[in-house]
Amino acid sequence: MSGSVISGWGSALPEKVVTNAEFEARLDTSDAWIVERTGIRERRFGGTTSSLAIEAGAAAIEKAGLEPGQIDLLVLSTTTPDKTVPATSSTVHAQLGCSGAAFDLNAACAGYVYALVTADAMLSAGPGFRRALVIGSDTLSTITDMEDRSTAVLFADGAGAVVLEHREEAEPLVLASDLGLDGSLLPILYCEHGGYMKMEGREVFRRAVRATVESADKVLRAAGVSPDEIALFVPHQANLRIIDAMVQRLGLAPERSAIVLDTTGNTSSASVPLALTAAADAGRLAPGDLILFSGFGAGMTWASAVVRWGA
Ligand code: ACO
Repeated sequence: MSGSVISGWGSALPEKVVTNAEFEARLDTSDAWIVERTGIRERRFGGTTSSLAIEAGAAAIEKAGLEPGQIDLLVLSTTTPDKTVPATSSTVHAQLGCSGAAFDLNAACAGYVYALVTADAMLSAGPGFRRALVIGSDTLSTITDMEDRSTAVLFADGAGAVVLEHREEAEPLVLASDLGLDGSLLPILYCEHGGYMKMEGREVFRRAVRATVESADKVLRAAGVSPDEIALFVPHQANLRIIDAMVQRLGLAPERSAIVLDTTGNTSSASVPLALTAAADAGRLAPGDLILFSGFGAGMTWASAVVRWGA
């Protein structure tokens, strides 16, 4: 028996808080509409993808009681890299002082669950890698048209990270996972180079609920876990109504959801680790607890995983 444990976690949010009132003042929208239709009350704008990633990554390494040089695998999930070349993970790797390999992964807002599953598989594959830093960092405010009320109120910036450590005596971290994509749905959510996010919100909503419920149901069955055995549900933080629909259809306990979107908005790759980190900091997780992760995003991608909390 061998597996990985989550031994540290951390997050980073820009200082600048942008409330719904600020959009109300200059766009044809209202605080009441945004809260009722999305659950978002405020969000943070600022920083760069690498600066937020470095802050979250450093906090996760410190929490794990490690030195950056002990990290031998860095996976950075992002849709908003600082540059086209090189990967933003190379900046993060250099500034943190990590060892070994690093790469960016882009599976849009399902990216963090893709990254977690990928890093765990690489740690499990053999002696090559022992300690992974898995970061989700995005600065969606840089690719959002702030004059478009249908997207401006949704997207924001942030980063979250965990450290995975491979241990001979540990049980497997990921009990079951499902990573999927329907590339024919590209037109409902995309952003050209140098452009802004274009989204058919209602269609994304409908497809997201269907895909995430099917995917989560699949991993619960594969893991042999019933919904009431899930201690914490950590969904992508896009819209509270999507999360509520998932909770209801999957038969999960509503009070076991990790929710931060009221204060963060939709931070893409950062949303799942921000929600996980907030729950862990609030003492909502105990060793052995089962977590259901869920994500969906442009592509259209989706991802689910049942994970054992071992910290
Ligand atoms: N304020 C006021 N009215 C608005 C706003 C706004 N900010 N935005 C849209 N509206 C209007 C629309 O123009 C529309 O008006 P109309 O009926 O006159 O045409 C009306 O509100 C209803 O629009 P809908 O799109 O049907 O509103 P809906 O309840 O579906 O909410 C929303 C829109 C919030 C975008 C929702 O569809 C949603 O969250 N979809 C999923 C989006 C998502 O998850 N995206 C991210 C996926 S991946 C990633 O994270 C990058």
